[in-house]
Amino acid sequence: MEKGFLHLHVTIVSLFILLYVAKVYLLLANKPEALEKLRSKTKIADMVLGALIIITGVYLTFIAPAIETYLIVKIVLVIASIPLGIIAMKKSNKALAIFSVLLYVYIFLIAKTDSLTLKKDAYVSPVSATSSTDGAKTVSEGEVMYKDKCAVCHGADGKQATNGAKDLTQSTLTKAETMEQIKAGKGLMPSFKDVFNDQQLTALTEYVDGFKK
Ligand code: HEC
Repeated sequence: MEKGFLHLHVTIVSLFILLYVAKVYLLLANKPEALEKLRSKTKIADMVLGALIIITGVYLTFIAPAIETYLIVKIVLVIASIPLGIIAMKKSNKALAIFSVLLYVYIFLIAKTDSLTLKKDAYVSPVSATSSTDGAKTVSEGEVMYKDKCAVCHGADGKQATNGAKDLTQSTLTKAETMEQIKAGKGLMPSFKDVFNDQQLTALTEYVDGFKK
C-alpha cells in the first residue's frame, strides 16, 4: 500500500517533469506555435498531475516515519518551483524555464537519495555514538549492524533462512567472499555497498564470520 503510493507519486512526478521538459525544449528551440499547441493540449493534464502530486505528496509526508530536514527543504522547494515553472512558461522566459527544470531534477534527486547533497549517508551505527563503558558486555559494532540490517532474514543467531537466506553458521565462504556478497547481494539478498562504509563492512564481515565457530 505504502509502496504503491510512493510508486504512484514518483510516476506522476516523472510524467509532470517530462511534460515540462518537452515544453522547455520547444521554448528553447524557438517553436512558439508547437509550444502553444502542446500547452493548450496538456493544460488539463498539467492541472490533474499537479493536484495528484500534492495529494499523494501530502499523504506520503503524513505517513513518513520521521520528518527530516531534507524532507522539509524538498517540500518548500516543490511549493516554490511549481509556480516558478508556470511563470517561466507564461512569460516565455528561457532562463527561468531552464532554472525550473534544474530545480525539478534536483528535487527529484533529493527524493531519490533522501539527502540534500544527493549522497546517501553511510550507515551510522548506534554503537559509535554511545560508548559502552559498563564493561559488563561490550556489544560489537558488527553485531549492532547485523541485528539491524541482516537478522530479518538470517535470524539473530545466523541460522534462520527466511526468504531463501542461507544458514550463516554453515557458510563455507571465505571472509573476502563474505564481504563481496554483503556488498553485491545475491538473489533475494539486497546489496549493501551503499549502506555501509568499508570499515563497517569489515566489522560486519568479522561478526558474520564468527557464526561459523
Ligand atoms: C532480504 C533478506 C536478506 C537480508 C536482509 C540479508 N540477506 Fe544475506 N542472504 C539472503 C539470501 C536469500 C541469501 C542466499 C543467496 C543465494 O545464494 O542465492 C543470503 C546469503 C548470504 C550470505 C552467503 C552465505 C553462503 O554461505 O552462501 C552471507 C554471508 C550473507 N547472506 C550475509 C548477510 C549480511 C551480513 C546481511 C546484512 C548486512 C544480510 N546477509 C542481509 C537474504 C538476505
